[in-house]
Amino acid sequence: MPQVMSSALPKRPTKGQKIIKKRLKVSSKDWLRRQLDDPYVRKAQALGYRARAAFKLLEIDEKFHVLAGRTRVVDLGCAPGSWAQICAKAKMTVVGIDVLPCAPLAGVKWLEDDFTTEAGLAAVALALGGHAPDLILCDMAANTVGHAATDGLRTQQLTELAVDYVLSHLAIGGHFVTKIFMNGYENEAKKQLAPYFERVQLFKPPSSRSESRETFLVALRRTKLL
Ligand SMILES: C[S@@+](CC[C@H](N)C(=O)[O-])C[C@H]1O[C@@H](n2cnc3c(N)ncnc32)[C@H](O)[C@@H]1O
Repeated sequence: MPQVMSSALPKRPTKGQKIIKKRLKVSSKDWLRRQLDDPYVRKAQALGYRARAAFKLLEIDEKFHVLAGRTRVVDLGCAPGSWAQICAKAKMTVVGIDVLPCAPLAGVKWLEDDFTTEAGLAAVALALGGHAPDLILCDMAANTVGHAATDGLRTQQLTELAVDYVLSHLAIGGHFVTKIFMNGYENEAKKQLAPYFERVQLFKPPSSRSESRETFLVALRRTKLL
């Protein structure tokens, strides 16, 4: 019989590992319960949307009409692709970027890349072929670690990069919609964008879970370049 080295034997989990495993079990059960009880999840499945997030964009559009007349959209953090589905259905050219892959969809160029890197930005530029987008959507969210302040800051960094991208790339007359966490940064972002748009407003769509600190910033009709 071959000798088994002691380092190859499965080790007993340490106390810390047990706690993490137990927490994960509780949080995934909560997640599953929330999904099963959620009318938006059922509605998304019934209507063929890839995610319940679709309703957030639809509700934002119902209030602000951000989709009408748009021709070219950049969708930051696009996976699994429900926002892109809505834009493609409205006949826009869609460039979507996400670190995760997306299933093919007619009219959409998916880029499996990290938006925070030079390579990700270059891939978006190449896919746009020198044209400026007239709509930029950002629903990027960092992976959570379960610590609300840290999670908020990690997603804030992504939103800050999206705001910079918008100021250097969005066409005159264009709109910007971004997820943003209510941790004080939402007011800073509003101030930063206000001089460049006709109207900048925060809005929490009814389908955004009330217990979540997520809200959306909507910047309408860009008036001037940097
Ligand atoms: C809430 S989901 C987006 C849902 C999407 N709006 C839809 O309708 O299907 C957030 C996405 O942000 C993506 N993301 C996080 N960090 C990113 C990064 N650095 N670059 C690109 N995508 C990122 C995640 O992979 C995740 O798919």
